[in-house]
Amino acid sequence: MLNLAIDRASEVALYRQLANQIRDLILRGVLSPGERLPPVRQVAQTLDLTRLTAHSAYTELQAQGLVESFVGRGTFVAQHPRSSTPLTESSALPRAERWASQGLLVELAQDSGDEGIISFTLSYPAPETVPVHDFERALRHVLREPGGLSYGPLAGEPVLREQVSRLLLERAIAISPDHLLITSGAQQALDIALRALAQAGDTILIEEPAYPGVIEIAAQLGHRIVGIPLDEDGISLVALEEACVRFHPRLLCVTPTYHNPTGVSLAPDRREGAVRIAERHGLVIVEDDTYGFLGLEGETAPALKSLDTTGCVVHVTSFSKSLLPGLRLGTLVADPRYLPRLAAAKQSIDVVSSPLLQRALAAYLRQGAFSTHLKRVRPLYHARKQALLESLQRWAPQGCAWTRPAGGLSVWLTLPDGVDERDVAHEARERGVGVAAGNLFFAQPTRRGHFRLCFGLLPPERIERGIEILCEVITQHQQQRDSRLAHASRSASPLV
Ligand SMILES: Cc1ncc(COP(=O)(O)O)c(C=O)c1O
Repeated sequence: MLNLAIDRASEVALYRQLANQIRDLILRGVLSPGERLPPVRQVAQTLDLTRLTAHSAYTELQAQGLVESFVGRGTFVAQHPRSSTPLTESSALPRAERWASQGLLVELAQDSGDEGIISFTLSYPAPETVPVHDFERALRHVLREPGGLSYGPLAGEPVLREQVSRLLLERAIAISPDHLLITSGAQQALDIALRALAQAGDTILIEEPAYPGVIEIAAQLGHRIVGIPLDEDGISLVALEEACVRFHPRLLCVTPTYHNPTGVSLAPDRREGAVRIAERHGLVIVEDDTYGFLGLEGETAPALKSLDTTGCVVHVTSFSKSLLPGLRLGTLVADPRYLPRLAAAKQSIDVVSSPLLQRALAAYLRQGAFSTHLKRVRPLYHARKQALLESLQRWAPQGCAWTRPAGGLSVWLTLPDGVDERDVAHEARERGVGVAAGNLFFAQPTRRGHFRLCFGLLPPERIERGIEILCEVITQHQQQRDSRLAHASRSASPLV
């Protein structure tokens, strides 16, 4: 009999607890394809559940494509798990066509710095939170040290690597500073990882939707892309397993903690499952933990890297969102077998990241100022996020849905069916509100019904006003859609 346990005090429905546990056993390979599950009656009896509950769990697993039932024979682990969303492999368009045609650079740049626009477009930290004085002191200090004025070691300044390895303990990552590279932001860390660990033509998996910077890198490097759909608990493990079987990908790029653009986090049980799937299929996971220090409520889940026992997770983080984007400093942690390749890629791009700024950051971290800073900024972002969620609750018309992130800097808004994001974005801008259209976050820009709403830069009153206007525009477009539909159905009625 399988090792299953039911927690009757949990808020999770009994059938779902059972389905989740069996799903994990399948995805971790404890239950193999073709293996027979115990009969419903036996499971119900052993766990003291009703037959209906056990049956519902099996039905749920069948709906997820993980098991197959045959009348009279029983229920078996599916040979090839199938995602409910069809997975397709594609090549992203290179930059010129992709970003320019969708107007990402134009749109986002237009809004930034325009005082008259309430802009939700940029996932930036609030400039007023930047610890200018602490940083000034740190910089003045390192300017007097000769080491910071020259080129430094390729992997990064030892003082900073030492400080970062201590800091990563907060993400439950215990590593030697020797396994760490300092990079010019997380963007460069991702670029190095994709460049060094995959080749043109290889398939890589990304989240759907994903951070556009990673789509851009894959496009530039000529990778083929398969999008793994996300729900409120992060990427679907069923889709991940299916993608591994069908496409033999090289890498999975994932932002398991406070994902950009949706803000969702990978649920704890899925974290374990994702790492085990990667181990079984020889997949390297590039964990983008750029927002990992920006937990705004509850506990932040430990990084995926902390579950890695075979070296399959490459961890990336950055000081851009949690401290100061102008530093352009990020970090990459990898298993020693990958480090020479990663270091060579880093060297060919920019030799080293600014030793002066690295040393200043190390001096700043050494003072313990970063944790004081985080204690100060988290409540500020929490208040902004709450203002955004409450305004949506108040103003958004029926048919809208949105995520409720516990951290990060953005919320993902889904528009009512049939309302086009481009039309709404255009009109909202005319009325002084900037929003990033959702199709920027898909490799194939065909999805039209979402906005990423970033709250980091805006005080609560501006957020409330901006959301009120945006929701008015959405409501108008929804009404126009309804009258179009009514008109179409009237004209389609037979004349009698
Ligand atoms: C998920 C994610 N990864 C990476 C980056 C790049 O960060 P950096 O400024 O450190 O290069 C960003 C920036 O927006 C991001 O949102």
